[in-house]
Amino acid sequence: MTAALVVLAAGSGTRVGAGVNKVLLPLAGESVVARSVRVALAVAEVSRVVLVVRSGDESDVSTVLEPLLGDREVVLVVGGADRHASEWAALQVLAPDIESGEVDVVAIHDAARPLAPVGLYDAVLAAARRHGGAIPVTPVAGLLGPAGAVTGAAGVQTPQAFEATALLSAYTRAARDGFSGTDTASCLEAYGDPTGPGVSGEVSIAAVPGSARNLKVTYPEDVALAEALLSPR
Ligand code: C5P
Repeated sequence: MTAALVVLAAGSGTRVGAGVNKVLLPLAGESVVARSVRVALAVAEVSRVVLVVRSGDESDVSTVLEPLLGDREVVLVVGGADRHASEWAALQVLAPDIESGEVDVVAIHDAARPLAPVGLYDAVLAAARRHGGAIPVTPVAGLLGPAGAVTGAAGVQTPQAFEATALLSAYTRAARDGFSGTDTASCLEAYGDPTGPGVSGEVSIAAVPGSARNLKVTYPEDVALAEALLSPR
């Protein structure tokens, strides 16, 4: 049994103010999306990589991917109106492999987090096989409880990984209801129990350590910060 990875790059990225999709911005000699896909292809035990792109970006994305592929295949899928719809587009492509049992676990990653390391994919995939689901979590700085202790608040990152049949089942039922979650875990939390749509989850979701380095490119200064993190000290 093998893992599948979904890389989401179908946002508009307008907040970054570049006039192009932020995932096509240059980052240390390659584009943000190329770096995310290159790392995804380096994860062991991965049989399928699906890259979700915005309609109109297909040819630009294919051009940046071409040098990375070698004998590997990346399936390009056109995404939807929001992140959840883009995930659903990818899961429908993976459905036959999930239903046949060939793919037992799926990790979903935002291409806008180009610094996620291979080790983080390994950690969420392993934890998802053990627990059903796994998400990277970082403590949020500056939130203090009454006694000065840091409260339980956490920043949730990607890649997020889930047992494949539970993931497909949750998204199939969410699609019937028109549910749209902010991240993959939120859909599993709402639809994780296969006995009833909307019944709160049976899938337990483990937290694995994320890191501040796994930043999300949202604004132009984030690209500069990512480049600084990549440059040799
Ligand atoms: O816009 P935001 O940064 O929150 O998007 C998170 C990730 O989801 C990005 O990698 C973006 O490309 C992706 N996305 C998508 N389809 C959408 C919206 C966002 O694949 N419709």
